[in-house]
Amino acid sequence: MRAAESPSMSATETPDHTETAEAGAAEVRQVTALTEISHALSGTLTLRSALVRVLEILGRQQGLLRGAVALLNTSGQLHVDATYGVQADRAGLRYGLGEGLTARVVESGKPVIVPQVSREPMFRDRLARQDLDKREVSFLSVPILVSRKPVGAMVVELPFKRQRDYDHLVRVLRLAASMIGHAVRVERLVDAERQRLIEENAHLREELRQRYDFSRIIGTSGPMRQVYEQIARVARANTTVLIRGESGTGKELIAHAIHYSSPRANKPFIKVSCAALPDSLIESELFGYEKGAFTGAQTRKKGRFELAEAGTLFLDEIGEINLSTQVKLLRVLQEREFERLGGTEPVKANVRLIAATNSDLEKAIAAGTLREDLHYRLNVFTIYVPPLRDRKPDILLLVDHFLEKYSIEHSHHVKRISTPAIDMLMAYHWPGNVRELENAIERAVLVCDGSVVHPHHLPPTLQTAEASGTVTDVSLTDAVDAYEKNLIQDALKTARGNATKAAKLLHSTERIISYRIRKLGIDRDRFRA
Ligand SMILES: Nc1ncnc2c1ncn2[C@@H]1O[C@H](COP(=O)(O)OP(=O)(O)OP(=O)(O)O)[C@@H](O)[C@H]1O
Ligand SMILES: [Mg+2]
Repeated sequence: MRAAESPSMSATETPDHTETAEAGAAEVRQVTALTEISHALSGTLTLRSALVRVLEILGRQQGLLRGAVALLNTSGQLHVDATYGVQADRAGLRYGLGEGLTARVVESGKPVIVPQVSREPMFRDRLARQDLDKREVSFLSVPILVSRKPVGAMVVELPFKRQRDYDHLVRVLRLAASMIGHAVRVERLVDAERQRLIEENAHLREELRQRYDFSRIIGTSGPMRQVYEQIARVARANTTVLIRGESGTGKELIAHAIHYSSPRANKPFIKVSCAALPDSLIESELFGYEKGAFTGAQTRKKGRFELAEAGTLFLDEIGEINLSTQVKLLRVLQEREFERLGGTEPVKANVRLIAATNSDLEKAIAAGTLREDLHYRLNVFTIYVPPLRDRKPDILLLVDHFLEKYSIEHSHHVKRISTPAIDMLMAYHWPGNVRELENAIERAVLVCDGSVVHPHHLPPTLQTAEASGTVTDVSLTDAVDAYEKNLIQDALKTARGNATKAAKLLHSTERIISYRIRKLGIDRDRFRA
């Protein structure tokens, strides 16, 4: 055995003319082989099949008896990834081609050449055991390097020929091994990226699941508890769900909660805002189209039904869908299949449907804008989300939730909301429901200069007579009284009903404050601890 780059074993005679010509032809063959190897490594989908191809090319071109490529796996063991002329055994770990030597090549990063294996003690056992060819065999192994570190080795055996230029052969093998090294590096980068994407995807899904977890829906009022019961009951089934309720009541939140509590939670949740899509687009958005279905359809495009495969499709504002699309939708609901625009092949739809609307569907049926049969199909399990004015006890919980959310988002810590401001929030009728409340609180966090939200931080709509329960044509005195009342009530709350402390907070005297408390009809007991 010797390390490569030692003087060649070959060329005992001076090359004559014919030998020069032969050498030239060999050179051409080698360049062709290397080109083929480079094609094999760049053009094959898996590294393993590319390695097999590389060994085949070398085998043919160099007249190999056997060959193998072994790479270190993640636990640091040499693993045969491809062979030529030998069967890797079942475990895939052993291959009989000078294992000890190959391990040494991988350890040292240096090639090894054994021109005559019969003279190499490390092969003796194996020769006796396997009784291989009677012919004399040469063994060569070159390292495969990634970023200069050995990650494996290529091993070949070929018939021993005294005149063979072994150093030249090692150079060819090293070139091939360096191309393999590049391919291994690329595959590992791609693998790492794929792994990163898989982990990121799992992480994002988990984040979504947590964000839309049922427990993130705020509210403990009776009507909301009923909604939770309904979500729990329907989530695990595949039933179509229709969510009805005024704008801003949380229909979309509930649709998410159903999906993320269902067995489809790890599959896509796809939303279609029916009202946002013009009639001309809605069908291609829902069902996709084939190439050439219409001008501009240059490639086939998947629709939302296909994107939601195995998951949930959320049709928001279903009341806005036109009659011709309703017919197609009805067919999907009945037959669980559809055709892409311009296509004839039916596509199966394994999709759970959730629809939501804030419009009066019964009126729409009467007016002829909603097909009754579609309504029946959608109306299998209906969840009515109550308006906020019918679940007043939830207001305080929602306020706390949004105060916390927007304090963090706008990095402005708001501790609490003053009693008069709470009174205003409770008195208001909330036509925009939770969305309106959320906007009001975000605005309050933004305009609030201290750490307490006061009535004047709330939107003007809440300050109207109707909202606050005061008379419409309010006089200056009344307005000032109302403002003063707010301030005193708030100070009393901080001082837990103690007038002396409240006076201090307002830079006033106890006498004045006690007088104003009586005059303004403030109930001091309400604030006592
Ligand atoms: N119970 C709740 N707990 C926490 N946040 C809520 C709740 N209900 C609604 N929200 C919030 O209020 C906003 C409006 O909710 P959502 O979009 O689900 O309403 P919607 O019923 O779909 O309204 P629209 O009919 O106008 O589309 C969202 O930001 C949502 O997060
Ligand atoms: Mg909505």
